[in-house]
Amino acid sequence: METVLVTGACGQIGSELTATLRERYPGVTVVSSDVRSDSTLAQPYERLDVTDQSRLESVIREYDVDTVFHLAAILSATGEDDPQTAFDVNAGGLYAVLEAGRRENVDQVIVPSSIAVFGPQTPANPGEKTVLSPSTMYGITKVLTERLGEYYASRYGLDVRGLRLPGLISYETPPGGGTTDYAVDAFYAAAAGEEYTCFVRPDTRLPMMYMPDAISALIDLATADEADLRYRCEYNVSALSFTARELVDRIEDRVPEFEAYFDPDDRQRIADSWPDAVDDSAARADWGWEPEYGLEAVVDDMLANL
Ligand SMILES: NC(=O)c1ccc[n+]([C@@H]2O[C@H](COP(=O)([O-])OP(=O)(O)OC[C@H]3O[C@@H](n4cnc5c(N)ncnc54)[C@H](O)[C@@H]3O)[C@@H](O)[C@H]2O)c1
Repeated sequence: METVLVTGACGQIGSELTATLRERYPGVTVVSSDVRSDSTLAQPYERLDVTDQSRLESVIREYDVDTVFHLAAILSATGEDDPQTAFDVNAGGLYAVLEAGRRENVDQVIVPSSIAVFGPQTPANPGEKTVLSPSTMYGITKVLTERLGEYYASRYGLDVRGLRLPGLISYETPPGGGTTDYAVDAFYAAAAGEEYTCFVRPDTRLPMMYMPDAISALIDLATADEADLRYRCEYNVSALSFTARELVDRIEDRVPEFEAYFDPDDRQRIADSWPDAVDDSAARADWGWEPEYGLEAVVDDMLANL
């Protein structure tokens, strides 16, 4: 890893991954990129639409990129509002990135998948090889991510890797329109002294993770010995599993004046289609995955930083 390109770098994960890579690997050039023209990320930054194949290839050539973290995507809730754009960006962008990787002889492409690959037919506590039955356009494009990543690895020898991230909690950059955004929004409201109306039922339990653990997972998987990996693009990683009520209660323990109400909307249907926990024993055994943050530590750290 000498020159890294991060796509979708202005987003919730990309903004923190870019900063961590620059801090942890000072000798590595990290080129951040996003379709946004209002980026506040440090240089080098390239305005780059991931569906633009030729521009993607010219950026890879210009910087002699050897590793791509492909994070540009339309998330689950936004994708249900506009399935066409979700398909164009998530499927089209993925194809463009993998093709560019193959044509420009990139060493490695990291493509995050999501718990959104699961669905109503998926059994409880799923492992990697299970029923994938996504009910959203986003989830369908994430199954494509896993399958196409595998295809480019076996057909063209491109080192493609990925993992199924759960809902992510962070304070640097607001989340980008996912179904688990309530677990972040509640903190922002509590820190601002505002009440919060949660868009899922209080008993909704979903897998979640604190951002520092997600960043470590992405980097640890990218730097793992390829020979140790049983899977390519479909590793489960789990850290936290709590209900919306449990989260609100933990915040209220620290901010007694915080008031939360529950008024489920369309996103409840998506939340109900996902498992409340996943089996991540393969990631733990194969590349040493181990989350650092439990729920109490997350609540303390979020409130301290907001
Ligand atoms: N945040 C989560 O909870 C979560 C959970 C599971 C998986 N993931 C996956 O991680 C990756 C990053 O997610 P995130 O939370 O940072 O998303 P985000 O929505 O916060 O950021 C995505 C970024 O992509 C950019 N983008 C959109 N269309 C683009 C295009 N055509 N070209 C270039 N950039 C474009 C957006 O401007 C945005 O900055 C995605 O693949 C997502 O599916 C995220």
